[in-house]
Amino acid sequence: MDKATIILAGATGDLGGRITKALLRQGANVRALVRQKTSPDKIKRLQRDGVSIAEVDFGNATSVTKACSRGSCVVSALSGLRDVIVETQTVVLKSAIDAGVPRFIPSDYSIDFTKLPAGTNRNLDLRREFHQRLDKTSIAATTIFNGAFTELLTGQAPIILFRWKRILYWGDADQLMDFTTKDDTATFTAAAALDSSAPRFLRIAGDQVSARDLVAIASEVTGDKFRLFRAGGLGSLDKMIKVMRAVLPKTQTLYPPWQGMQYTHNMFSGLAKLEPLDNSRYTGIQWRTVRDVIAAR
Ligand SMILES: NC(=O)c1ccc[n+]([C@@H]2O[C@H](COP(=O)([O-])OP(=O)(O)OC[C@H]3O[C@@H](n4cnc5c(N)ncnc54)[C@H](OP(=O)(O)O)[C@@H]3O)[C@@H](O)[C@H]2O)c1
Repeated sequence: MDKATIILAGATGDLGGRITKALLRQGANVRALVRQKTSPDKIKRLQRDGVSIAEVDFGNATSVTKACSRGSCVVSALSGLRDVIVETQTVVLKSAIDAGVPRFIPSDYSIDFTKLPAGTNRNLDLRREFHQRLDKTSIAATTIFNGAFTELLTGQAPIILFRWKRILYWGDADQLMDFTTKDDTATFTAAAALDSSAPRFLRIAGDQVSARDLVAIASEVTGDKFRLFRAGGLGSLDKMIKVMRAVLPKTQTLYPPWQGMQYTHNMFSGLAKLEPLDNSRYTGIQWRTVRDVIAAR
């Protein structure tokens, strides 16, 4: 049987690079859509891995349509604001349809924003706006919801304060939250790209933990005694977000300080919790836990 060809937009990015490797491991041909200004080093790395490169003008659907020919699924791992998530992804979507590609995976990879009220997360609202366009088409789409990347707990997310031995939380210390590593998200996304019967939504979580669970895990892994630190209620966090948005200069950056606070609010509210999980849909994924990631820090 011929190998499936998966068309990937965003292959030069962090998650896109991991999806590329997972697709190759799972036996697919990968064609990466890159732009003229993409760094030649990133393109060389993809070529070394055996990826075929299609340089396209993302503003021109004809050029993208040609690059999508004979693909069995278009996967987007693009990152950006409205110009990318709504406008560029619309060009890629239209091109996939015009080229006769039967399936599309949008760049969602997040908490379940379909359950959140509009206006509570700027970046996720853009994905919701793109879904309104996507769901009007006849292409078979699959969104991957993975919660937050687990790596954020030892990186940018201000939840585990290693220096102060505190777990900072808002609202309820027992609210469970979903975490999946970047590699596990990529491996699952690759399997979904090769699965012609994948449904509209797939939900995964390598681990589900509360702030109280994090106290126990961080204490056990580090040997230090961590404690809970309640920063306030969700109402206070909401007020802080509104004040910051009002006083900070308007910005076109992806992650201004209030954007991280919106994700934090969404997760501690429990509204965007993932259920039921589809972790067992594909075999062979050894899900990495929060404990694994903290231990590897
Ligand atoms: N759940 C979570 O915790 C979490 C955390 C982080 C990210 N994510 C999601 O994961 C997805 C990928 O994010 P990432 O961190 O891997 O992004 P990234 O490393 O910044 O990569 C972005 C990719 O998009 C491409 N790109 C950006 N602007 C473009 C444009 N105007 N036209 C064409 N291509 C463009 C880049 O291409 P060039 O190489 O040409 O610049 C690159 O391939 C996003 O949906 C993001 O929201 C989720």
